[in-house]
Amino acid sequence: MKDITRICFVGWGVVGQGLAEILLEQEKELKEKYGFEYKVVAIADKLKGSVYDEKGLDLTKLLKLVKETGKIDTYPGGIKGWDSIQTITESNANLIVEASWTDINTGEPAISHVKSAIGCHKHVVMTNKGPIALAVKELLKMAKKNGVQLRFEGTVLSGTPAINLALKNLAGSKITKFAGIVNGTTNYILTEMEKGLKYQDALKQAQELGYAEADPTADVEGYDALGKVIILANVVLGANLTKNQVLCQGITKITSKDIEDAKQEGKRWKLIAGAELKEDGSIVASVKPLKIPLTHPLASVGGPINALTFTTKYLGDVTIIGPGAGREATGYALLTDILDIHRNLTK
Ligand SMILES: NC(=O)c1ccc[n+]([C@@H]2O[C@H](COP(=O)([O-])OP(=O)(O)OC[C@H]3O[C@@H](n4cnc5c(N)ncnc54)[C@H](OP(=O)(O)O)[C@@H]3O)[C@@H](O)[C@H]2O)c1
Repeated sequence: MKDITRICFVGWGVVGQGLAEILLEQEKELKEKYGFEYKVVAIADKLKGSVYDEKGLDLTKLLKLVKETGKIDTYPGGIKGWDSIQTITESNANLIVEASWTDINTGEPAISHVKSAIGCHKHVVMTNKGPIALAVKELLKMAKKNGVQLRFEGTVLSGTPAINLALKNLAGSKITKFAGIVNGTTNYILTEMEKGLKYQDALKQAQELGYAEADPTADVEGYDALGKVIILANVVLGANLTKNQVLCQGITKITSKDIEDAKQEGKRWKLIAGAELKEDGSIVASVKPLKIPLTHPLASVGGPINALTFTTKYLGDVTIIGPGAGREATGYALLTDILDIHRNLTK
């Protein structure tokens, strides 16, 4: 990492390719401004195939290939056919970008990816919520023991710097609470319902625009937000929460009448995810729809945008607003983590 960062992608879908595009676009600038030089030596994906070349792969060629054929295993040259674990452990990569599917119940296959990478002394950056929500402390401990860094900015609010803001810029500020809109799909649906759409029509529109999955359960029932609350509570407030300890309600029971009633009261429904450190040291977290006054900073955050307020002792409330998902925004989250690791190692 001190000289040339040798990157291996595990999972090369929307986010992985988003980072690849940013790396290519900024290659010269990253070198000149930050002294950061890289080569991508491996990519391992489930259906698209895998390819490894210790000397480095042609990223432009690979992006073209995946766009045209949906595959990477027809890339000319390199070793093909390794699975993700073999690619992580046997390639000469020194940094693993984990961007495979999230499974919030088991954390797999990503937990195994991260453990394998750390086990063979490779740094990890990831956007996958599963391992962080389920096992962040164990993984950070393992990383420390093995002398490598594990970063996961993109797991909450994608590239909008929620985790790094809290851990770095707000270090020592005594954060006692956070609350925010951490799921863009539900925020979009609620915003459209306020404009007059019925829940099912707003959901359909969110799906057509690519904000919601074909199966929207994880978003609309609040499970996606639940994973993010657990990550923030455990990482920022030092909690040890698991999902059964957090109240989780989605937006499926909010009716057009509820929306209209709130309007009459000068309020607005938002799916609020938050946690608070109580005076007795306990931490209470929840995901639930709340009617908030229009004067509240989170009330003006509409559409698929996310926002998060940290309550601190010395600054009062600090609020950030920005994208919570997307190819570039989440690819960029990985870049911030990579640059931070590079900065740490070249101090
Ligand atoms: N998209 C966003 O805006 C966003 C924002 C924040 C966080 N995230 C998280 O970032 C991660 C990636 O998201 P995405 O949008 O890029 O998803 P995606 O487009 O579905 O990409 C995930 C990729 O991982 C691959 N994969 C699955 N299991 C694998 C395995 N065992 N080994 C190797 N590759 C495997 C999939 O392979 P095949 O499809 O080829 O089978 C797919 O290409 C997810 O965990 C997601 O929750 C995404």
